[in-house]
Amino acid sequence: MTPPRRQPAGRRGTGFGRRAVLATVPVAVAALVGAAAPTGTGTTGAAGAGDPYFPLSGNGGYHVRHYDLTLRYRSGGRLTGTAVLTARATQQLSRFDLDLKGLTVDGVTVDRTAATAVERSGQELVVTPRHVLRAGRDFTVTVRYHGTPKPVTDPDGSADGWIPTDDGAFVANEPQGAMTWFPGNAHPKDKSSYDFTITVPKGRTAVANGVLLGQRTAGGETTFRWRETQPMAAYLATATIGTFQVHRYTTRDGVQVYDAVDPREAEAAAPVLAKLPSVLEWESKLFGPYPFTSAGSIVDHADVGYALETQTRPLYDSAPGILTLVHESAHQWYGDSVSPTSWKDIWLNEGFATYAEWLYSEQHGGASAQKTFDGLYARPAGDGLWAYPPGDPGSGENIFGAPVYDRGAMALHELRKAVGDPAFFRILRAWATAHRHGHGTTAQFVRLAEQESGKRLDSLFHTWLFTKGKPNRP
Ligand code: TRP
Ligand code: ZN
Repeated sequence: MTPPRRQPAGRRGTGFGRRAVLATVPVAVAALVGAAAPTGTGTTGAAGAGDPYFPLSGNGGYHVRHYDLTLRYRSGGRLTGTAVLTARATQQLSRFDLDLKGLTVDGVTVDRTAATAVERSGQELVVTPRHVLRAGRDFTVTVRYHGTPKPVTDPDGSADGWIPTDDGAFVANEPQGAMTWFPGNAHPKDKSSYDFTITVPKGRTAVANGVLLGQRTAGGETTFRWRETQPMAAYLATATIGTFQVHRYTTRDGVQVYDAVDPREAEAAAPVLAKLPSVLEWESKLFGPYPFTSAGSIVDHADVGYALETQTRPLYDSAPGILTLVHESAHQWYGDSVSPTSWKDIWLNEGFATYAEWLYSEQHGGASAQKTFDGLYARPAGDGLWAYPPGDPGSGENIFGAPVYDRGAMALHELRKAVGDPAFFRILRAWATAHRHGHGTTAQFVRLAEQESGKRLDSLFHTWLFTKGKPNRP
C-alpha cells in the first residue's frame, strides 16, 4: 500500500515576489539592534542572539536554565501570566532584554527586587535590575503580564505564536512566536527546562510539553500542570487549549503518551495516531533511542496550514496523514533533541524529517527513496525547488520552502548513495547521539559524515547544500 502523499507539513510557496523589498530589511534591523542595546559596552546584554535571519530573536548575556510559566486563560481569549525565569549571566549585566511582543507588563522583579527600569522597545522587554549581575551568577526574573495574545506574521506570510481558535488557541512558535505568549530568550541557541501551570475554563484542556503532573478542577476552572525536564528551545514549547478528547497510555518502551484530539477530527485522526508507537519504534531503530520520556499528539481543528514538531507532542491543525506523523516524529530527534544553532541551519531539521518520510515509504510498501529523488530531480531548472540552496536559504522568508525540505532530503539521499547504507545509517545515528539534547551546525554534520564514512564529502555537500540552481545529474 502506498502511503498517501500529503502537502508537506510546513511547506509554503517560495514567494519571490517580495524579495526586492525584503532586501532592505536586514539593514533596518541591524540599526534597531544597535538602538535597543548597543553591544560592546560590556554590561548590556545584546538585543539578539546573533541570528542572521532573525537578528532580534533571543538575547545576549544570559542563559535561561528554567522557565516556570503560570497562565490563566479565560474564554474570550484573555491571558494572565507569571513567568519565572531561572537564568545564569554569561557576562556582567547592568541591563538585559527578554523577547516579548504585545501584552501588557504589570511588573518585573530580578531576584525578587523590583527592577529599576522596565522598557518596551519593539519585541524587546528591556530590564534594568537594581544591582549589576556578575558574570556566572544565577538570577531569577519574574514577569507578570496580561493581555490578549496575537500571533506574529512570519517573513513568509504565515502566522505563528499564539493563534486563537474557536475553542481556545493553537500555540506553535516556530520560528519566532514564543514572544507572543511568554517573555524569554527565544532563540533555539538557548534551551531550557519548563514547568507550565495552565488554568482554563472547565471543559477545556490545556496541553503543553512533557508529562502531565496533575490536573484539578475548582471554581469552574481546571488547572493543568505540565513538566518538560529535557532541554527545549522556545519555538518547541506549546500551551494549546481547546475542547479535546484525551487518550493516555504507555508504550512497550515505557514512553508515556498523551493524545489530545478535537472531536471534529477524532474519526479521521484515530487510525493515524494509533500508529505512533510503531512509528517511534521504527524511528528508534533507525535514529537511536527516542530522546524523550513522553510523547503524544495534539490534533486541533484550526485553519493554520502547517503542523509543528512541538517537543514530545507534535501539533496538527487537523487530522494528520501518516507521513506527516512520521515527519513530526522524526523531528523529535532532528530539530528537538539536536536543535539548529541558527535558522540558517534549518535544513538539518526539515531535510532530515522529509528524508524520514522517504524512508518510511520505502520500507512500508511505497515508493523507494530513489524513486522519490528521481521524481523531484525531473523538475525543470526553473522550478522553485532549485530557487536557492538548502544550506543557505538567504532569508527568513525561505526557511520553510521546498529547497529546504525536498532538496535538503535529496542532499541526504546523495550522501547515502555516496557512502552506502551501513555508513549512512551510522551517520544518522551518530548525529543524533553526538548532539543529543544540544545543537548542531551544518559544518559539524559534514565533518561527522566524513569521519563516520572515511570519505571526503566536501564537494558532494557543496553541490547539494550550497550551490545555486539545479545540480548536474549525479
Ligand atoms: N517545522 C514545521 C514542519 O515542518 C513547519 C512550520 C512550522 C512552518 N512553523 C511554520 C512552516 C511557519 C511555515 C511557517 O513540520
Ligand atoms: Zn518539518
